Amino acid sequence: MEIIIKKDAQEGSCAAARVVARLVRAKPDAVLGLATGSTPLTLYKELIRMHNEEGLDFSEVVTFNLDEYIGLSADHEQSYRRFMNENLFSQINIKLENTHVPDGMAEDVPAACAAYEQAIADAGGIDLQVLGIGSDGHVGFNEPTSSFASRTRIKTLTRQTVADNARFFGGDESKVPHHCITMGIGTIMDARMNIMLAFGANKADAVAATVEGPVASIMPASILQHHPSAKLFIDEAAATDLKLADYYRWVYEGKPEWQADA
Ligand code: F6R
Repeated sequence: MEIIIKKDAQEGSCAAARVVARLVRAKPDAVLGLATGSTPLTLYKELIRMHNEEGLDFSEVVTFNLDEYIGLSADHEQSYRRFMNENLFSQINIKLENTHVPDGMAEDVPAACAAYEQAIADAGGIDLQVLGIGSDGHVGFNEPTSSFASRTRIKTLTRQTVADNARFFGGDESKVPHHCITMGIGTIMDARMNIMLAFGANKADAVAATVEGPVASIMPASILQHHPSAKLFIDEAAATDLKLADYYRWVYEGKPEWQADA
């Protein structure tokens, strides 16, 4: 795993955006895996800026989002479909039919999950997956002790995730759905590249456990230690508990030209 420590979320997001842009320029029909939540917002703003000012072209790009709440329709204020439409898709030249978010209103959830997996496979697999991390170490909504082999399926959120996400529901935990559809950890590990973003002191514990702790399902993100191409973009606050932070800075600063892609 490559650890990239930047001064703040803005710089970390811009570095991550450069990796996404490089892929989209090299492969205009790239398949991107996308995340929601507060973390990727600055990344999406930077991609929108690159689209407007540098002509970054999304016309052939295909996307698959990680997750969606069960029971929220696409037009619900807090649905992840609406989040993506408002914060990214409506502001770039992507074709809406090329964007995919699990259907939180599916009548047959297992069938919808299987179809989602099939759609990813039919698209040729995910080239680059964007990830955030929960304060409990979840990726997508794969909560602690999720199977590392899991595929897209229904999951129950932990109480901690419900409490963390209540801020999007006016602070009212009772409004946060307890169930979701999420890509599995196996699905995420199949992506050819994973880039995880984590900003702020409340992510420091999970970041340290992910990077320097044992690989264990109690800390789902730690599986990225086994991914052949994973980059972690963090700010100084999220890097606080890393034992080898100075080493990661030294590696990044001394990266040879041919390796410099962020
Ligand atoms: C969202 C997702 C989650 C979030 C995580 C962090 O699609 O998959 O894993 O990335 O809960 O959320 P924020 O960024 O709001 O702290």
